[in-house]
Amino acid sequence: MALPFFTKKNSQTQTDSAIALPEVLPQHVGFIMDGNGRWANKCGMPRKFGHKEGAKNFKDLSLYCRDIGLRNASFYVFSTENWKRPQDEVDAIMDLFWDYLCEADQYLERRVRMVFVGDRSRLQDRLQKRMQELEEDSKDFEKMNLILAINYGGRDEIRHATQCIAQQVQAGKLDPSAITEQTISDNLYTAGLPDVDLLIRPSGELRLSNYLIWQCAYAEYYFTDVLWPDFNRNELNKALVDYAQRGRRFGGI
Ligand code: FPP
Repeated sequence: MALPFFTKKNSQTQTDSAIALPEVLPQHVGFIMDGNGRWANKCGMPRKFGHKEGAKNFKDLSLYCRDIGLRNASFYVFSTENWKRPQDEVDAIMDLFWDYLCEADQYLERRVRMVFVGDRSRLQDRLQKRMQELEEDSKDFEKMNLILAINYGGRDEIRHATQCIAQQVQAGKLDPSAITEQTISDNLYTAGLPDVDLLIRPSGELRLSNYLIWQCAYAEYYFTDVLWPDFNRNELNKALVDYAQRGRRFGGI
């Protein structure tokens, strides 16, 4: 079967990486795909070109995550704030996302479960329909959860969860005194998925930008100056090695 995601460069196996993988991998790695615009700028190309390269890199890395045995990988595709960008840039990102969704059967063939988080109501109908189809067709797959955040904002997610919980209280199904942290987790878009262990943000920016703010409460952060289109398998291996050396105490000693 033809695998259009893999270019010759990308057809390497994990053993091609100069950095060996550590034995212990995080359960959930979150990626903020930042730096596409600056990458394009450096090449003297329009920002859209950077997003195209960023999308290519996303496709390679997401499949690599699956192949090395990560159980959950999430990627920040488009935030609730990104609508402020020029319309042609928003359209370009949505078109790349659509093209990706059309090719995404490859993930299903690899038994990857696809999960989309964020407010879908503002997305084009064709996107919403295809996202639902992919989620439905992959819901029993066990290899990896691939979580894509689109029109996603952490604060908006908590607002939405609060609304869901309030409705349950109003319907008499939930006693306010019975609300726990777990109740909130269970009402987020990521219900049933583990919290983020390792949050990776390339491009030199040192912030969370409203990404999975509840789920990153105890995440380890990995920042690098490398821009997203250049954040390749080797860079990911480096981040995983760095993570494996950290001591996580979750507030204990
Ligand atoms: C941030 O870089 C990137 C985004 C807001 C969009 C991310 C989108 C993609 C990687 C492509 C589409 C994805 C899929 C799944 C097909 P930036 O534009 O803010 O970069 P800059 O900070 O250098 O300007």
